[in-house]
Amino acid sequence: MSDLIPNLSLGVSMRGGGKDKKDKDPLEFFPTPAPFTRALLSVWRPRSPTVWEPACGEGHMADVLMEEGLDVIATDIVDRGYEHQDWMWDFLQETKAWGGALITNPPFSRSLDFMQHALDLGIKEMAFLTKIEFWAVGKNARFYNRNPPALVIPVVGRADFTGAGNPVMYMQWTVWDAHHQGGTLHKLARRIQQKELPL
Ligand SMILES: C[S@@+](CC[C@H](N)C(=O)[O-])C[C@H]1O[C@@H](n2cnc3c(N)ncnc32)[C@H](O)[C@@H]1O
Repeated sequence: MSDLIPNLSLGVSMRGGGKDKKDKDPLEFFPTPAPFTRALLSVWRPRSPTVWEPACGEGHMADVLMEEGLDVIATDIVDRGYEHQDWMWDFLQETKAWGGALITNPPFSRSLDFMQHALDLGIKEMAFLTKIEFWAVGKNARFYNRNPPALVIPVVGRADFTGAGNPVMYMQWTVWDAHHQGGTLHKLARRIQQKELPL
């Protein structure tokens, strides 16, 4: 990674989920419920022990990755007060190749930019959480066809990102994995609660 900006607090405390456009968080902060991250790891795990979460927010995804034994580098364009955030950094400005894995829930409207940028950085193992209809959008479908993923993993059951019942949506993981051979696999995953994890 580049010489990263020190972890300075901007005092930002934004939450997604506002109903009006004027309330919309331009950085699209929606904390990922933990069962969605566990669902990914129940189907696919990176071989690399080190994972970059480049849009870590308050660490909802990074914490689960750490609980699951992965070493996590956590960055975000702002500092939301997450204790394990390593740096403030605009992922889309990163220029150095990254040899580890990448797992994230990017800002929804920039998902394709994040995916393209991660591929451009030469990342060999990566997983992105998006809305379930993501690949049905024309320009996204064209990207998919140019860069067929290893796995698409729809997660069964809806995500309530704020705990307030809004927004509630179906989500899926898309995985690119240089170790994968053959065509794109499609596997369903269940949301996994903590108590269901093996000891
Ligand atoms: C949908 S939230 C996901 C938060 C976290 N990944 C999670 O799953 O709980 C998107 C996050 O992306 C961050 N973000 C937006 N643009 C970014 C950029 N260019 N580089 C890094 N982070 C960015 C936002 O600040 C926000 O925290």
